[in-house]
Amino acid sequence: MASDRIGHAGFAAKRRSAQDAAALIADGMAVGMSGFTGSGYPKAVPLALADRITAAHSAGDPFRVKVWTGASTGPELDGALAKADGVEFRLPYNSDPIARERINRGEMQYFDMHLSQVAPMAWQGFLGELDVAVVEVTGITPDGLLIPSASVGNNKTWLDRAKGIILEVNSWQNAALEGMHDIYYGTALPPSRVPIPLTRADDRIGEPYFRVDPDKVLAVVETDSPDRNAPFTPPDDSARAIAGHLLEFLGHEVKMGRIPASLLPLQSGVGNIANAVLTGLIDAPFDNMVSYTEVIQDGMLDLLESGKLRMASATAFSLSPEAATRLNADMARFRNKMILRPQEISNHPELVRRLGCIAMNGLIEADIYGNVNSTHVMGSRIQNGIGGSGDFARNAYLSIFMTPSTAKQGKISAIVPHASHVDHINQDVQVIVTEQGLADLRGLAPRQRADLIINNCAHPDYRPMLKDYFARAMKGSYGLQSPMLPAEAFAWHQRFIDTGSMMPG
Ligand code: COA
Repeated sequence: MASDRIGHAGFAAKRRSAQDAAALIADGMAVGMSGFTGSGYPKAVPLALADRITAAHSAGDPFRVKVWTGASTGPELDGALAKADGVEFRLPYNSDPIARERINRGEMQYFDMHLSQVAPMAWQGFLGELDVAVVEVTGITPDGLLIPSASVGNNKTWLDRAKGIILEVNSWQNAALEGMHDIYYGTALPPSRVPIPLTRADDRIGEPYFRVDPDKVLAVVETDSPDRNAPFTPPDDSARAIAGHLLEFLGHEVKMGRIPASLLPLQSGVGNIANAVLTGLIDAPFDNMVSYTEVIQDGMLDLLESGKLRMASATAFSLSPEAATRLNADMARFRNKMILRPQEISNHPELVRRLGCIAMNGLIEADIYGNVNSTHVMGSRIQNGIGGSGDFARNAYLSIFMTPSTAKQGKISAIVPHASHVDHINQDVQVIVTEQGLADLRGLAPRQRADLIINNCAHPDYRPMLKDYFARAMKGSYGLQSPMLPAEAFAWHQRFIDTGSMMPG
C-alpha cells in the first residue's frame, strides 16, 4: 500500500478506510472532486459514497450531492455516482455515458461552463459553499505539502475553498511525477488582479506542490488503482483527410510568413480527430514545436518522443492505457518536457491570447455562417460540454474547428442551415475543416463565408440542399447580412427527430 507515500506523521495519523471517509459526506453537500479527462480522479471514496447513497435510497432516505470537478473523470466517480442517482448537480464537463443519460432525462442539473472560469467563479462565491474536497494526490511530503497526481484541474481551488478535505494517496501514480507540476498561487479577484507572469509556454511561474491547511484534512485514504482512460480509435480515412487539410493549411501559413516554422503553441482538443491531427504532425515539416493546451493525449506523447515537440504544457494527461504504461515506464525522461498547471492557468484567456495559440477543436455541427455547436445534439441533448474550447477559440491566434462532414452513417450533416445550439459565435471561428476540405473564414463577411463553407466543407450529399436553402434565403430573408428563413432553419433537425435522418425521403 501507499504508506511510504505519506511522509508526514500528522497526515499518516489520519489514515481512514474509504467507507469511513465517505461517511463524512452528507446529503445535499457540495463536493469538489479532483479529476480531469479520466486522470487524477479519486477512485475509492466516490465508490464508497455511491454505496452509501444506494443504501440510503433503499431505506427510503434522500441522498444526493453536488459534484464539482476539473472536467470529466472516470467510471468509479461519475459513472458510479450517476448509477446510484446520487448527483443532483454537476459542473463543469462530463463525458460519462450514464451521467449523460441522467442529464438528458432531466434527472441531473448540469452547469456546463468554460473551464478557465470554474476556479474564479468558486472564489467569487457564485457557486455557493464547498463543503468537502476529495482530491487524489501522488504523495505527501514530510513538510505536509501535496504532490499532485496525473491531473491538476481545480484541485488548488478545492483545497483552498473546501471546509473539509479528504485526500486519496494513490500509489499507482508514478512517484516521478514529483516536480512536473507548476502550481501558481498568484491569482486574485478584481480589483486586485495583476498580470500573470507567463510569457512562454515552458515558463514555470509557481511551485511543484499544493499547499494545504492540515487542520482541514479530515481523512487520508490509501489507494492503488489505475486511471481508467479509454483507448483512442485509430485514425480512419476521414480523420486522416481532415489532418491532411489542416497540415497543408498550416504549411501555407508558414510559407506566407504568418506563423513561424515551429508554428505557435498548439492547443489540441479532446477526441479522435484531434488525436489524428497530432499523429499527422509527426511527419509534417514542423520542428521544435511546443504546446500550450489542456490535455496531453497519445498523439502528443508520440510527438514528444519523436523530438518534433519540444515541450507540452497542460493541466492533465488523457492517455490510452497503453500510452499511460509507456509514460509511466519513462516518466523521469518525459518529466523534463512536460508541465501540468491548474486549469485556470492552462486555459487562461490572458495567456492564450499572449502566447498566440493555434486552437484545434472538434465540433458537433457548424452552420453556413460558421457558428459552431460543440455540445448539443439536435439543440437539446448534451453530448459532453464546452470544456476549454471557448477559452481557446475566442483568444487563439488561429481558431480552427474540425469534424467529419456527416455523423451517424451520413444521416446527419455536420454543416446545417442554422446551428441548433451555439457555443462559438462565428466571430470566434476562423477555420472549419472537414474531410471534404477547409474553409478559411478570416476576413470574410457572412455571405462569403456561406459560399466557402457549403462548397469546401459540406458533404456532397447535403451540398445541393444547402445551396438551395441559401439561394431561397437570399430571396426570402428579412435582411441580407446573414440570410435566414426562420421557419425552415431547424427543419433538418426536426426531420432527423421525426424520421431518423436529415435527408428527405
Ligand atoms: N449529430 C449527432 N451526433 C454527433 C454529431 C452530430 N452532428 N457530431 C458528432 N456526433 C457524435 C458522434 O456520432 C459520436 O457519437 P458516438 O460516441 O455515439 O459514436 C460523438 O458525437 C463523438 O463524435 P466523434 O466524431 O467521435 O468526434 P470527437 O471524438 O472528436 O468528439 C466532440 C467531438 C464535439 C463531441 C468533442 O470534440 C467535444 O466534446 N468537444 C467539446 C469540448 C472541447 O472541445 N474540448 C476541448 C477543449 S481543450
